[in-house]
Amino acid sequence: MNQRKALLRVLKGERTDPPPVWIMRQAGRYLPEYRELRQQAGDFLTLCYTPEMAAEVTLQPIRRFGFDAAIIFADILLVPHALGSDLTFETGTGPLLSPIADPRDVDALRTADSVHEKLAPVGEALRIVRSALPPETTLIGFAGAPWTVATYMIAGRAVPGQIPAHEFLRRQPEAFRRLINLLTEATIEYLSDQIAAGAETIKIFDSWAGSLTGPEFQLYVTDPTQTIVRAIRKRHPGVPIIAFPRAAGDALPAFVADARPDCVALDQSVNPTWIADNLDQQICVQGNLDPALLESGGDELIAAVESVLNGFAGRPHIFNLGHGINPAAQIGNVEKLLETVRSWRPGQASAASRLPGK
Ligand code: CP3
Repeated sequence: MNQRKALLRVLKGERTDPPPVWIMRQAGRYLPEYRELRQQAGDFLTLCYTPEMAAEVTLQPIRRFGFDAAIIFADILLVPHALGSDLTFETGTGPLLSPIADPRDVDALRTADSVHEKLAPVGEALRIVRSALPPETTLIGFAGAPWTVATYMIAGRAVPGQIPAHEFLRRQPEAFRRLINLLTEATIEYLSDQIAAGAETIKIFDSWAGSLTGPEFQLYVTDPTQTIVRAIRKRHPGVPIIAFPRAAGDALPAFVADARPDCVALDQSVNPTWIADNLDQQICVQGNLDPALLESGGDELIAAVESVLNGFAGRPHIFNLGHGINPAAQIGNVEKLLETVRSWRPGQASAASRLPGK
């Protein structure tokens, strides 16, 4: 059967011109319709756990922009919540969780199968979205990678440098390993449920991968991702997996070779020429426009979008940002991004050079 969904075709290794496009955190505070529903819900977690609301928020950017993919509205910290961590989101300070200070805090967590019941509302939201999406739009499920989720659980909040997690892994290596194993298992169960509920591909966010190097990167970033990828592939053959080991740097080629995701998402620090030299041409990449350009806009935005498009023209590519869109991003700039991606063809003269006054 011909696959109508461009994003799924590219995840299977095809190249499309122009590439499919969606943006990380596409449902969020830069959209007035999001802010309105967020205010009605009162609380971020209410939004996540009320399937009709989560589905509505997921669909908002699809209606407004017609992206090629919808990503289910949820958060990577719902897994620790299901495992028994207290979780609140305070406006301005970000997430707060009960911190993990010693091995007993790891022992007190619930078992991995708790996610089935506790995170059932996410499955319900996926079912609603799947039945409402246009036939050409792909539905993405997601979870945080064990390392990144562990950094928030240990510190109890977002901290620069993820220092508490580094300290815990060195002082309590055995308890740290148990935490990573529990998160790996819970993530496999949660992602399987998302696929059963209608997610057509899944993405693993390892936002703090870049704070580990060498053997620790292998042990806590690559190995858990490999375990998740293998388990999901066994249970759900044919469902493509996107991995986002943010700021992995030189560790990226070995990560891709060992973890074997179907696609690797790149942050904005990654140069397409370096990718061409270091990743096999068949490997699908996603990314990697600097999100700050959606605040500033102008010719610089158009030129940067084209440079990402041209940079990855030789391989399967999904256009995206290098990290989540900022609340201060301008809607007009998202529209400009989409126009530029959708009118681009390989080898064509730059739209930036065709602007009036050039
Ligand atoms: O991409 C999407 O549109 C789907 C929804 C989504 C959210 N968070 C909603 C959200 C996704 C995929 C995430 C992933 C996530 N959450 C990550 C990994 C990606 C990344 O950005 O590195 C991380 C690290 C988190 C944890 C998290 N959630 C933090 C640190 C914060 C506070 C900082 C912030 O950006 O506000 C959140 C809150 C959050 N998650 C919001 C949204 C829309 C804002 C909450 C609000 O509306 O007040």
